[in-house]
Amino acid sequence: MSTTQETVLVIGGTGAQGVPVVKALASDHKYAVRVITRNPSSKDAIELASIPGVTLFEGNAYDEPTLREAFKGVQYVFANTNGFAIGEMAEIYWGIRIYELSREFGVKHLIYAALEYASKLGDYDAKYRCGHLDGKAKVADYISAQPTTPMAWTVLTSCLYMEGLSEFLQPLPDREDPSTLVFAAPLGQGKLPLIYLEDYGQYARWILDTPSKSNGIQLHVATEDIAWKDLAAAFTEVTGRKAVYKDLTLDEYFKLPVFSNPDMVLGHSTNKENPTLFTFRENFSGFWNMWKDDLTKRDYKLLDEILPNRVKSVKEWMEKTGYTGKPSSVLKDYRDGFGSFNA
Ligand SMILES: NC(=O)c1ccc[n+]([C@@H]2O[C@H](COP(=O)([O-])OP(=O)(O)OC[C@H]3O[C@@H](n4cnc5c(N)ncnc54)[C@H](OP(=O)(O)O)[C@@H]3O)[C@@H](O)[C@H]2O)c1
Repeated sequence: MSTTQETVLVIGGTGAQGVPVVKALASDHKYAVRVITRNPSSKDAIELASIPGVTLFEGNAYDEPTLREAFKGVQYVFANTNGFAIGEMAEIYWGIRIYELSREFGVKHLIYAALEYASKLGDYDAKYRCGHLDGKAKVADYISAQPTTPMAWTVLTSCLYMEGLSEFLQPLPDREDPSTLVFAAPLGQGKLPLIYLEDYGQYARWILDTPSKSNGIQLHVATEDIAWKDLAAAFTEVTGRKAVYKDLTLDEYFKLPVFSNPDMVLGHSTNKENPTLFTFRENFSGFWNMWKDDLTKRDYKLLDEILPNRVKSVKEWMEKTGYTGKPSSVLKDYRDGFGSFNA
């Protein structure tokens, strides 16, 4: 191990989004990686700890004394806070607090994992309000207003995981003709950006390796923006299996087995009395309304420059990963029993 090796603290490192980041950072021993987890005995944590250069730090990331210990001796921070666990209000607090602690502890570069600001992009029309998007985006706005010295910062704004096509976005067999798979979503003619998580990890790596270009920017990443009819067509092309897109109203969507109880409060580790919390129905109505109205944009030319070998389409991803439409586990929270996903 080189004596000049520097340490990256990763918050959310055991999750679907964090794992590829940890792997990309630890791939060649340039960085040591410290991952905060509440449970070092979980399968996900054990797998990460087996990677050379990765160490686990036991504790809850939404706790000041834990963070103060975890920040000791780190030069870089990657933070993906979990809005589905803590809700919008706490996500804003902890996002800003992580920025402040990064400054206090002399961190060189902070990567904040953000999502799109649905409310702002929709001119604050209430139909776009979405707690798990807006919370991260408000923190992104706060960070974007900060100087780029002495600490560099980059906001890494993502979108739905491509891997979600096997879980949250999975196609379901048509009731009348089970040989046909139905990709159902309240998306109209809108295009949904999807990100291949392995490439997501590479963007995080590029950010730390290339501060001259990444400092002070908000990088919006995705693999492709795709209309759901084109998704169904790509699936048929790759698998030979019949598939269709079914555009749903929001009422129809919330009757799908995607959510076991859409009127449940979203935020599995919150005090449910908190009046600022959203129900799944409220939260995901804003979410789908934003995508349906195509309010977001990515610069694919820039993404090609950053990662020339990135996966460039959903079709390419399906071929590369052997996607069949079959369900498989993506989110750690779901594996831990906190999903309301019911398919
Ligand atoms: N699903 C998507 O397509 C998507 C796309 C972009 C962004 N996101 C965002 O990503 C975040 C979730 O991360 P993920 O997708 O990686 O989820 P995930 O696979 O379910 O992982 C959950 C992560 O959160 C931690 N965690 C869960 N509950 C916690 C609690 N009560 N206190 C402290 N830590 C807790 C877990 O750490 P432990 O090891 O301690 O369990 C784990 O690292 C959300 O804010 C979501 O909005 C999701």
